[in-house]
Amino acid sequence: MILVTGGAGFIGSNFVLDWLADFDEPVINLDSLTYAGNRENLISLIGDDRHLFVHGDIADQALVAGLLNSHQPRAIINFAAESHVDRSIHGPEAFIQTNIVGTFRLLDTVRSYWAGLECDAKSAFRFLHVSTDEVYGSLAPSDPAFTESHCYEPNSPYSASKAASDHLVRAYYHTYGLPVLRTNCSNNYGPYHFPEKLIPLMIVNALAGKPLPVYGDGMQMRDWLYVKDHCGAIREVLAHGRVGEVYNVGGWNEKPNIEIVKTVCGLLDELRPRDDGKPYSAQINYVKDRPGHDRRYAIDASKIQRELGWKPAETFDTGIRKTVQWYLANFEWVANVQSGAYRKWIDTHYAEASIT
Ligand code: NAD
Ligand code: TYD
Repeated sequence: MILVTGGAGFIGSNFVLDWLADFDEPVINLDSLTYAGNRENLISLIGDDRHLFVHGDIADQALVAGLLNSHQPRAIINFAAESHVDRSIHGPEAFIQTNIVGTFRLLDTVRSYWAGLECDAKSAFRFLHVSTDEVYGSLAPSDPAFTESHCYEPNSPYSASKAASDHLVRAYYHTYGLPVLRTNCSNNYGPYHFPEKLIPLMIVNALAGKPLPVYGDGMQMRDWLYVKDHCGAIREVLAHGRVGEVYNVGGWNEKPNIEIVKTVCGLLDELRPRDDGKPYSAQINYVKDRPGHDRRYAIDASKIQRELGWKPAETFDTGIRKTVQWYLANFEWVANVQSGAYRKWIDTHYAEASIT
């Protein structure tokens, strides 16, 4: 079996659902259920004994050691993290705790377990760490896209904490020989995305008749990848990646934020027109920029294509349409995640972003 951490979050839950749809190999899903963890994402697995959900923290070494020793997983995929840049600006401590201390403790517990494995199991074992392109910092308009050898220049508490976790994973390979793999991926979008991130927030706010807050001039560039493509890339790296290597994962899909927002508005105009017949883009509202806002990310995903034959299946047009359709069909899911804690965060954050 495999052990997945953070498998009740956005990418982790898509990964677990897709894995169990395609394979019979069981999954232990360790998640501490922060505001971003949602067991409702996994509702279709109720009664499926290939899925063992464990409510717990990656930093809890006794718990993790017990899980490893009793279930003997052949691999660990570490999704667990605090993942929202804006939250890291308001309160960085949780990011240090989970992304750095948590990853360190997880690595150290895994190292003890791995050291005690029999020869074949030991060489077949893998620790795959899921990371982000944000560790590389911001690109100028004409700079080439990030390759795996790009220097680390993180600019937010989130990206700095992910950079630190990447360095720890690397160190456990070089120092102790732990068979690690790392992936650094661009912005994901798709089902089960918590509506604090750009794309789901725009869909949810548009439908609720609320303003669509675009930071600064909206010309920040991101590369966007449909979440199920990211999950497929992780599976390829787990199966065939070279130990100790880093693989950049991206959608070859660089777009300015304002174009993303207008695309979402256009799809909603088509699929769920406003009662007054006006376009959803009328709700766009430019607000104060994010502090330290990275201007541009772009991923060069040629290594993973060259070595592992992976490339995205979805274009942005097909992926964003599926995403908007998913939110329209799953509005109950949205209503349920909009719990007290989520609402409080949204109110505090956007109250501080003055309208420009
Ligand atoms: P998410 O915030 O939606 O989910 C994170 C999950 O981790 C949640 O279920 C949460 O409960 C769990 N978690 C948090 N702290 C934990 C802890 N200490 N112990 C156990 N579980 C804990 O995040 P996501 O968007 O699914 O991202 C998953 C991973 O992918 C993260 O490591 C993130 O840095 C990385 N990543 C995300 C993106 C993106 O666009 N979302 C892009 C590239 C990389
Ligand atoms: P986000 O989804 O938070 O992901 P990340 O910061 O990890 O890239 O933001 C994506 C982009 O959208 C980023 O440039 C910030 C911008 N953004 C807005 O303009 N308005 C918003 O309300 C949010 C949440 C993000």
